[in-house]
Amino acid sequence: MKLAIIGTGYVGLTTGTCFAEVGHHVICVDNNVSKVEALKKGKMPIYEPELEELILSNVSAGRLHFTTDLNEAVAKSDIIFIAVPTPPHEDGSVDLSYIEAVSQEIAQALKPEFGYRIIVDKSTVPVSTGGKVSQVIERYAQGAVDVDVVSNPEFLREGSAVKDLMHPDRVVIGADSQRAMDMMKRVYQPFDAPIVEVDLASAELIKHAANSFLALKISYINAVSAVCEKAGADVNLVAKGIGMDKRISAHFLNAGLGYGGSCFPKDVKGFIHIADQLGAPLNLLKEVETINAHQMTHFLDRVREKLWVLRNKKIAVWGIAFKQNTDDVRESVAVKMIKALCDEGAEVSAYDPKAMETGAAALEGYPVRFCPDLYSCAQDAEVIIVATEWKEFAMADFQRLRKLVRLPIIFDGRNLLNPDNVLYAGFEYHSVGRRSLYPETAEGLA
Ligand code: NAD
Ligand code: UGA
Repeated sequence: MKLAIIGTGYVGLTTGTCFAEVGHHVICVDNNVSKVEALKKGKMPIYEPELEELILSNVSAGRLHFTTDLNEAVAKSDIIFIAVPTPPHEDGSVDLSYIEAVSQEIAQALKPEFGYRIIVDKSTVPVSTGGKVSQVIERYAQGAVDVDVVSNPEFLREGSAVKDLMHPDRVVIGADSQRAMDMMKRVYQPFDAPIVEVDLASAELIKHAANSFLALKISYINAVSAVCEKAGADVNLVAKGIGMDKRISAHFLNAGLGYGGSCFPKDVKGFIHIADQLGAPLNLLKEVETINAHQMTHFLDRVREKLWVLRNKKIAVWGIAFKQNTDDVRESVAVKMIKALCDEGAEVSAYDPKAMETGAAALEGYPVRFCPDLYSCAQDAEVIIVATEWKEFAMADFQRLRKLVRLPIIFDGRNLLNPDNVLYAGFEYHSVGRRSLYPETAEGLA
């Protein structure tokens, strides 16, 4: 099929590439000229595992193209996906100006002689946005165009986007016309994934409800971790014990510094806001946000308790990205923590396997020492903080590190390290609600 994707970011680029990989002809459009130019030269604008080789092979197979020309993409494509940002406003409502702008551009590019076209919203939007997109198309199209608007929310995770797209748990298609639904099912037919066929409004709501539920799960286990800390229990074991119940599942039960990223924080806010507007308040989600914000402040309180005064203390922060396997630092808890530490006068060194460039941009103006590896980052440190759950940190040589640091104290904000390795090397180990199973190694565990 002939597909256009408007917005070539984390979602648009990965989705477009995977559509090409299964045989569709895809044109990815972006209004960022340098991004499109770079992609045309085979330069990747983001780090995402497996993506680069898929892009290069599909470009050379002639199935994947990059352009800034939206008119050409609309003229040549049967289905036009919108994958532009939907950032939050100050009050938590969703800024839909990008969606509106692209809808207008598509409307102006459509011509009656093109025949039937489907416009698909892939961006995460509040319920009833699809209706507004239809209105814009009707208002700004030049002549009577034959169009359906569909919602097809995306569930990929950064860091495993290609895998998630090629093997989705489910594909949600929200359409109010059978013709649109049938055509959309053909797009996903090569993926061999269960398709959830729903109306447009339900599809839009599924996305907000899914992200908010996952955020709720994380906040639930984080709240339980505080109880574990007080009671001398281990939250990892509690999570294991409850997660083996299939009705609960083991996923998204890792206690830590709380959720970050460009989606959970904004989507929880967006869902709260639209529910309030509709007169069906989701107070439960307000508590989810409160717990999430508390995770980092409580963790920093514990670091402060240990070091007493943070001013002039050498603090090594491992991880800048909002999660592992990505260079994305949007709403990263690690970035927020580094800023808070710098504001208190600590001397912060930082290292991330992939987010050094994006991290340096996000931390511009902060006196951070960026280091090429985790060992140089830990040199002379009075405390090491694990802020992102990169596997590389768990594999570190703690014997070697013990010789580099000034004080052997580790605060593991992601419950990532093996306490035995760390304790054996002579470090004190502090985590988020864990304890040692073996009393003789418990010394130093928080
Ligand atoms: P992004 O910022 O990485 O990419 C958006 C792209 O759209 C940018 O390249 C930007 O230049 C381009 N753009 C903006 N206006 C444009 C216009 N008028 N014409 C052409 N291009 C334009 O954003 P993202 O992370 O890909 O998120 C996009 C949407 O997908 C959001 O609604 C987000 O909530 C949702 N989503 C994101 C993820 C994720 O993991 N990042 C997962 C699922 C859903
Ligand atoms: C999340 C969802 O998982 C995707 O399904 C969704 O498509 C996407 O948002 C979106 O709508 O943008 P993503 O933000 O890429 O994906 O990454 P996650 O793996 O969900 O992690 C989000 C945050 O939660 C990270 O900061 C991570 O450290 C944290 N997290 C995750 C935990 O603290 N504990 C967990 O058990 C899992």
